[in-house]
Amino acid sequence: MTRKILVTSALPYANGPLHLGHLLESIQTDIWVRFQNLRGNDCLYFCADDAHGTAIMLTAEKLGITPEEQIAQVKAQHERDLAGFLIRFDNYYSTHSPENRELSELIYKRLDENGHIERRDITQLFDPEKQLFLADRYIKGTCPKCKTEDQYGDNCEACGATYTPAELINPRSAISGATPVEKESTHYFFKLGEFADMLRSWTRSDSLQPQIANKLNEWLDAGLQSWDISRDAPYFGFEIPGAPGKYFYVWLDAPIGYMASCANWCSHNDRDFDEFWSKDSSAEVYHFIGKDIINFHGLFWPAMLDSAGFRQPTAIYSHGFLTVNGKKMSKSRGTFIKAETYLKHLPPEYLRYYFAAKLSGAVDDIDLNLEDFTKRVNSDLVGKLVNIASRSAKFVQKGNDGNTTGSLDNPELWQRTIGLSDTIAQLFEDREYSKAVREIMALADACNEYFDQREPWKLAKTEDGAMEAAAVASQCLNVFRVLVTYLSAVLPELSQQAADFLNCDITWQGEFSPLLNHPVKPFKAMMARVDPDKVAAMVADSADSTPAPTASPDKGKTKKPSQDPGTIADTIEFPDFAKVDLRVAEIIAAAPVEGADKLLQLTLSLGELGTRNVFAGIKSAYTAEQLVGKLTVMVANLAPRKMRFGVSEGMVLAAGPGGKDIWILSPDSGAQAGMKIQ
Ligand code: 2FM
Ligand code: ZN
Repeated sequence: MTRKILVTSALPYANGPLHLGHLLESIQTDIWVRFQNLRGNDCLYFCADDAHGTAIMLTAEKLGITPEEQIAQVKAQHERDLAGFLIRFDNYYSTHSPENRELSELIYKRLDENGHIERRDITQLFDPEKQLFLADRYIKGTCPKCKTEDQYGDNCEACGATYTPAELINPRSAISGATPVEKESTHYFFKLGEFADMLRSWTRSDSLQPQIANKLNEWLDAGLQSWDISRDAPYFGFEIPGAPGKYFYVWLDAPIGYMASCANWCSHNDRDFDEFWSKDSSAEVYHFIGKDIINFHGLFWPAMLDSAGFRQPTAIYSHGFLTVNGKKMSKSRGTFIKAETYLKHLPPEYLRYYFAAKLSGAVDDIDLNLEDFTKRVNSDLVGKLVNIASRSAKFVQKGNDGNTTGSLDNPELWQRTIGLSDTIAQLFEDREYSKAVREIMALADACNEYFDQREPWKLAKTEDGAMEAAAVASQCLNVFRVLVTYLSAVLPELSQQAADFLNCDITWQGEFSPLLNHPVKPFKAMMARVDPDKVAAMVADSADSTPAPTASPDKGKTKKPSQDPGTIADTIEFPDFAKVDLRVAEIIAAAPVEGADKLLQLTLSLGELGTRNVFAGIKSAYTAEQLVGKLTVMVANLAPRKMRFGVSEGMVLAAGPGGKDIWILSPDSGAQAGMKIQ
């Protein structure tokens, strides 16, 4: 029976580019959706940009554009990148849409009518200059515990202490620098506690992975608080009906964006919204999400749907985080890889395959180890899978005029290959992609072993043997076709190339039958080996010129100075190093920076190349007067960085463990400002 299935992945914020972490989820989801359609189900994939909130409003302001312009630009980039990774949506929409406004208002009104909204006055920190209430992340100050400056409003990155913004010493708005004041306003709350029983039974259903159900149960045991769903103006979002100056919190209308994307698609495709979302819908609804947003999807969302009279999701499928080379993605290591940067250097199917080879149905984190990635793609896809076709094709061309032979040379191998169809399909259904890939690669190994044992290259040397060689090759091409079919949700382009080459459709419904006496085309290269230089270039391209600890004004984010010589940082390739333009610079002026106890503002002369304004964290070692007239080495091509005190246009290189032991390196006399360090 054809299943009607609606699938979503989390809506990316329209506030910045997509990176490989986003792609882990899109690829996991896209594989599942393609698999369902391949099996003959009616499976639709809806997504959108998450377009609301303070962050987007502030970004637009900084860029001097309207929020509408900002979200349109970012949406176009997101759609371009997602298409680049072969993510095939039925609709990619925006939460800033008429459908989403209408549905958000409708759902809110129903919650309110049902008595599930309460109004309460709360006191928050307010930026008197920007006339804006400040969320914790927009408040900075000195940690009340360890006294490190420049810490965010809820926790200290230096000592790990957690606190409320009001406890910060010398708090200030991270937006304007103004000292925040306390201010009261009315907020709207969704009474989540009233759904505790319903949510308890939801956690006991099959809708959640065990790890997720456990987490939700912990929250349920701790007691559910009402959820603040309103934000005060100015806010980029939808105004709450009947509440001028109050807006829906971005997380209220974000999941409703799933419905809005569906509604928009329905209106263009003559389909009925209710067939997916009404309480008696026969469709299945699945949300693919990251483990960081399970509270929204596992608690708030089902409760909202319940109150508003809509159906519940069939299941929530959560995945873990992506690490690169075993660590959190990092700009300084070049492992914070944007989707766009990856695509500049490498084809999308390598990553689709690698993620598939690592993903399971559990919530575990996934590591993209770039060396393993290179080896795995080369060995599995090029060395095993495509190899079957490339080594077989010529024997069919030569021995049987480009036709497969009339019978199978090794029926057991064929039976073994097609006999795993249901097992492999079930693994895809359960999102156990890595297990499916393992089964498929074991079949590829078996096929290559059969080819090696039969030695068609020797058979083809005699006239009589040429047909036998063609039979061996035909056997292999038939296995190849089935394996490509199994992998076609992962590798849609390869599957298309195989369909062209084999002159057949790639479908996975019903029994497979072999292609006998069937014309195939001459083989054309399908997939190149991963070039490690391209991987290195991608990493170099992703590397950000983050300041080194000693010169960094971002104290909270750097390691504490110590006498320990430490370890040498991760190796970089020569092209990374070659990007750095090191110059001799003369410090022609130096001055303390008000409000920063470790920084000096330096004016550096590069001779004929002009001067640069640089903030350097070396006040603990030198007074401003001591530095004037000294020569140093600077990174002259560091992208300017906007700091709280002004724009820093480079970086001074210094040595030492920190504190008063930091030394500017003065080159021997003879060096002149502007000289390039060779
Ligand atoms: O965490 C995020 O990136 C959110 N923009 C996800 C929203 S998912 C859904 F609820 F809309
Ligand atoms: Zn601290």
